[in-house]
Amino acid sequence: MSFSKRQLMLTGILYLLTLACAAPLFAAPTPNANAIATASPLATQAGHDILAAGGNAFDAAIAITAVLAVVEPYSSGIGGGGFYLLQEADSDSAVMLDARERAPLAATRDMYLDPLGEPVSGLSVDGVLAAGIPGIPKALATLASQYGGLPLSRSMRPAMDLAREGFPVTQHYRRMAGFRLSALRASAASGVFLHHGEVPALGHIIRQPDLANTLGVIATGENGFYQGKLAIALVEGVRAARGIWSLRDLAQYQVIKRVPVQGRYRDMTITAAAPPSSGGVVLVSMLNVLEQEDFTSLSVIDQVHWQIEAMRRAYRDRAEYLGDPDFISMPIDKLVSKGYARELHAQINPQQATPSSSLPVVTNEQEVRRSTGTDTTHFSVLDHQGNRVSATLSINYPFGSGFTVPGTGVLLNDEMDDFSIKPGTPNVYGLIGAEANAIVPGKRMLSSMTPTFVETDNGLLLLGTPGGSRIITMVLQAILGYESGVEADEIAGLPRLHHQYLPDRVQYERGTLDAALVDKLSARGHQMSEEQSVWGNMQLVHWNKKTGHLSVGTDPRGEGAARVKKVVDSSD
Ligand code: GLY
Repeated sequence: MSFSKRQLMLTGILYLLTLACAAPLFAAPTPNANAIATASPLATQAGHDILAAGGNAFDAAIAITAVLAVVEPYSSGIGGGGFYLLQEADSDSAVMLDARERAPLAATRDMYLDPLGEPVSGLSVDGVLAAGIPGIPKALATLASQYGGLPLSRSMRPAMDLAREGFPVTQHYRRMAGFRLSALRASAASGVFLHHGEVPALGHIIRQPDLANTLGVIATGENGFYQGKLAIALVEGVRAARGIWSLRDLAQYQVIKRVPVQGRYRDMTITAAAPPSSGGVVLVSMLNVLEQEDFTSLSVIDQVHWQIEAMRRAYRDRAEYLGDPDFISMPIDKLVSKGYARELHAQINPQQATPSSSLPVVTNEQEVRRSTGTDTTHFSVLDHQGNRVSATLSINYPFGSGFTVPGTGVLLNDEMDDFSIKPGTPNVYGLIGAEANAIVPGKRMLSSMTPTFVETDNGLLLLGTPGGSRIITMVLQAILGYESGVEADEIAGLPRLHHQYLPDRVQYERGTLDAALVDKLSARGHQMSEEQSVWGNMQLVHWNKKTGHLSVGTDPRGEGAARVKKVVDSSD
C-alpha cells in the first residue's frame, strides 16, 4: 500500500499538531541566571548558596529571611511579620503570603490609653505589651512546604550557623542600637545586642545561641514555634513581663494567602501588597492620578507638584478606609479605579497646593513623633527558572519592642503601634488612622510595606524598601524613574520626597530639591520641611526579557548586596 502525496501531507500536519499540543512551540523565556538583592551581604550570599544547592527562589527566600532575622535584628526577625509577594515560573498570577502579626486575643481597643483616654507614652512601642503575634516562623514553613524544593532545615542552616558563630557589628547596627539603647537595656535578655550595656564596637561579634536553638526548633516544621515547648516558653516569658499572649494566640496564628492588588500604569502591570498592607492600594491610586498627566514631559516643578498632590490624597484615603480585610470592608475597587483617579485628578489645582485641612476630614493632626525610617527590610529574588519573590519584613521600630523573650533569643516586634491606638493620634511614623484600623483581638494592623512586581512586555522589576510610612512613596518614585528610563541598577539611588496628608508637609532628603525649587514649591503653597537625612533601603532585581539581561540594585544608603550569579551546570 502506498500513500498519496496528499495523505503524506495530512499525516505530517497531524504530527506537527500533536507536537505542538505536547509542548509549546515557543517556550516562555527564562532568566539565564539567578539574581538576589538584600539588605545584607550575608543574606545575599546565603540565598545564592541555597540556589546553588538546588533550591529555588522560595527556598532562597527562606534562607534570606532567616539570615536577616539573625544579622539585622533591628529590621526584621522571627519575632516579627511581613508580606511575601510570590509568583511561580509556570503561573501567570502572583500570590501574597500575609504573615503580618495579629493582635493578641486579650488585646483591647484602648489598651494603650490612660484613664483620661490619652496615649501612654511608649506603651505601644517599648516592651512586651507592644508585640503582636509573630508570623515569620509560619511563613518560613509555608514557603518550604508549598513552594520550595529543599527541606526547611536545609534552607535555614546558614541562619542557624550565623546565630551560633556570630556576625560582626556594622555601622548601621551601631546607629540602630544607639537609637534604641534604653529599650534594649530595659530587657535583660536583649543584652546580647549590647556589650556591657553599651553599643558594641564596629566588628564586635554578636552571638545568639538561644536564637540558634529556636531556629532549630522552627526548622522542624509548621508548628515548632506555635505549639509545644517553645510556645510555652514564649508565653511564659511574655506573661512574666506582664504581657498578654496566650497559647491560644500562638496555636491560632495562620499565614493567609491573599490576592495582591493589581493596577495598570501606562504599559506596566503593577502587582503589590494587598490589605492589611496599604501599600498596593495607595501605590496604584497615586499612579492612576499621575497617569492623567503626560508625566515624563512635565517640568520638574510640575512633576513634584503632581506627585505631592497624588500622595496627599492617597494617604488621606489610607487613613480613612484601610485596615484588615478580615475585620472591615473597604472600597478597594473604587480606590484603585481609573474613574476615582479622574475624580481626584480633577480636584487638583495644577498651580496651587491643596491644604490637607481642606480635604474631607479624617481627624485632626497631632504632634508628630519622628522616625528614622530605616527599620524593616526588603529583599528581591528571581531564579533562573523564573520563580520570583519580593518580600518586605518587619519588627516595626528599630529592634522592635526591645524585648527578647528570655531563653529563646526571640526579639519581639512592636507592630501594635501600627494600629490606630487612638483615632487621630499619630504612630511612630506620624501616620494617623481611623476606626478601620482600631485594635480588635486577632486583627492584623495596617501596614505600609509594599513588595511590588512591575511587568511590561519587555521587562520585569521586583522591588521594595523599608521606611515606615515613606515606603509607598519610595516605590512610587522608583516606578516613575523606571518609566523615564533610569537604569535598573540606579533606581535605588534616586533622590526621595514624601507627603502623607498629615502632617501637611513635604519631606525631602538632603540634595533632592535645590533651593530655587523649594522656593517655587513654597510659592505654590506647599509647606516644605527642612531637608532631612536619607531614608529607605531599596533592593531590586530587573530582568530585560528582550535581551535576557539581568541587573540588580541595592540602595547606596544601606549596607546591602545585590548579585547576579550564573547557573553552574553540574553536567559540564
Ligand atoms: N511596621 C511598618 C509597616 O508595617 O508599615
